[in-house]
Amino acid sequence: MHKIAVLPCDGIGPEVVAEGLKVLAVAAEKHGVRYETVEYDLGGDRYLRTGEIIPDAVLDELRQLDAIYLGAVGHPDVPAGILEKGLLLRLRFELDQYINLRPIKLYPGVETPLAGKGPAEIDFVVVRENTEDMYAGVGGFLRKGTPHEVAVQEAVYTRMGTERCIRYAFELARTRAEKKVTMVDKSNVLTFGHDLWVRTFAEVGAHYPDVEQDHAYVDACCMWMVKNPEWFDVIVTTNMFGDIITDLGAMIQGGMGVAASGNINPSGVSMFEPIHGSAPKYTGMNVICPIAAIAAAGMMMEHLGEVECGQAIENAVIAALASGKLGDLSTKSGVSTTAAGDLVASLVQ
Ligand code: IPM
Ligand code: MN
Repeated sequence: MHKIAVLPCDGIGPEVVAEGLKVLAVAAEKHGVRYETVEYDLGGDRYLRTGEIIPDAVLDELRQLDAIYLGAVGHPDVPAGILEKGLLLRLRFELDQYINLRPIKLYPGVETPLAGKGPAEIDFVVVRENTEDMYAGVGGFLRKGTPHEVAVQEAVYTRMGTERCIRYAFELARTRAEKKVTMVDKSNVLTFGHDLWVRTFAEVGAHYPDVEQDHAYVDACCMWMVKNPEWFDVIVTTNMFGDIITDLGAMIQGGMGVAASGNINPSGVSMFEPIHGSAPKYTGMNVICPIAAIAAAGMMMEHLGEVECGQAIENAVIAALASGKLGDLSTKSGVSTTAAGDLVASLVQ
């Protein structure tokens, strides 16, 4: 019995999570997967009501569960940074979910803005380091608010954090057909932190002679993702760059409506979520495409070892997209969140 924490959180989070749970229920039933969900009321509304973001007791409960399924974080009445750092990043860090796994995969029937590229060309996965870099929150102000203000925001890289992320990428590459890892960094400018990455990549890579190794600077990577996405199989990169290039990745795979992700702690509690945010202006309008959240539920099942159930969810997503009944996956597609969820649920084999 898998115990899954459900954190719908803010904005359209609850709407897309509801569709993910709808599809999960059908797939689990068909594949004999037993699970129970525990829903937690976290997010901007609770913070505004009580001043709490994640009570320690809740965090301790989450540590005991098997996985977390999260909607989206971000509330228009809460200043930027509070919920991001207090909720999403706190969970990623406290649960040591040191990999952010983000597949960039164009499914048949989905339009990419890249002319001449199709599902054969757009199929790679970004392994984003998820606990360090500029996200570590190291820094501070000096003379804040004065003309002489100094603001420091440090990028932190540890040998341990870098190594475990790069090793994860190589192990993942071994399970894929192409078996290639491209490291994306800015080692021509960030000559300390990214030098550590370059050295670690070479050392870890030496243990994987069966995996092809490549390198790209992050700016060039953005260019190649658009020009020659077929060059990529597994990209491994730092937290900040991984954040940026996966928004670009989401666009080439058909939009934020389809991009799913997993925050993985291979030996702990992992958390699955769509890449998109809470889109507050669409809250309650039933217009957001839930495919990303549904696909995240599929990733969660695979991670829990329920491979058939996870693949059934992904296959239902593929069938729904190929049916042409989901429109352009935007808020203007004319297909409601619930109708899209119903369609996917009806296609689960
Ligand atoms: C993401 C988001 C988060 C991040 C924000 C909301 C903190 O953009 O999951 O990509 O920067 O990691
Ligand atoms: Mn992001």
